Amino acid sequence: MTNQHSWNREYQDSQLVTQSHKPQKDFLRFIKWIKHNKHLDLYSGITVLDLGCGVGRNSFYMADHYGARVYGWDFSEDAIEKAQRFHAHDDITYQLRNIGNEFPLDSDSIDIILDVTSSNALNESQRDVYLRECARVLKPGGYMYVRTLAKEGDKNAQTMIKEFPGGEYDTYHHPQLKVTERVFSGPDFKKLYNQYLEVVRMERKTGYQRWGSQSYKRNYWNVYLKNNKV
Ligand SMILES: C[S@@+](CC[C@H](N)C(=O)[O-])C[C@H]1O[C@@H](n2cnc3c(N)ncnc32)[C@H](O)[C@@H]1O
Repeated sequence: MTNQHSWNREYQDSQLVTQSHKPQKDFLRFIKWIKHNKHLDLYSGITVLDLGCGVGRNSFYMADHYGARVYGWDFSEDAIEKAQRFHAHDDITYQLRNIGNEFPLDSDSIDIILDVTSSNALNESQRDVYLRECARVLKPGGYMYVRTLAKEGDKNAQTMIKEFPGGEYDTYHHPQLKVTERVFSGPDFKKLYNQYLEVVRMERKTGYQRWGSQSYKRNYWNVYLKNNKV
């Protein structure tokens, strides 16, 4: 079963992903940080790219609160169908896309890129494309938010890497979700992403991944990146 099939199955009979209408809390903290520090004028007609948008809760928040023009991409037909049904907005374009393929967008055209726990499932060659494309389409001075699975302190991740190895470095094949996921140590994340954008803030938080009626403790990196190219 491919990652795409597994995610579709997940949206049809949800055990893990949220179908909530509320925007993700750590993403909201990132937006507050941008606003508080006046890094960008969020009300100035910005363009946002939401990678792996799921049911569109974060895309909708940006369009609804800030009048942003938003591209919400996901490779699950079921997610896109739900985003269009529950979080439709004139300023949002939801599209069925794999974020490991080249982005059909102009260079320097996006103010904010969101990756809210979406790129974990990319393999190494897809991740190279995704990183190169994020750096290309983000405007100079633009920001990216990445919420991703952390390796440090996450016993569940370490057990899965040993028991269900995914074939590439620090990956496992999630036994229930049936998706191959990468987890990042802090130094590995910085080394990789700093080749494309500057990591300006990075913090680790504990969260809980619900699976059916069970809840698993997981660690996540919340990373704020800036495009410093001139
Ligand atoms: C954990 S969910 C998060 C959804 C959304 N970002 C949110 O915060 O509600 C991860 C999402 O990434 C999508 N995804 C995973 N790999 C992808 C890929 N290669 N291309 C596009 N979407 C992908 C999945 O279909 C799923 O909707």
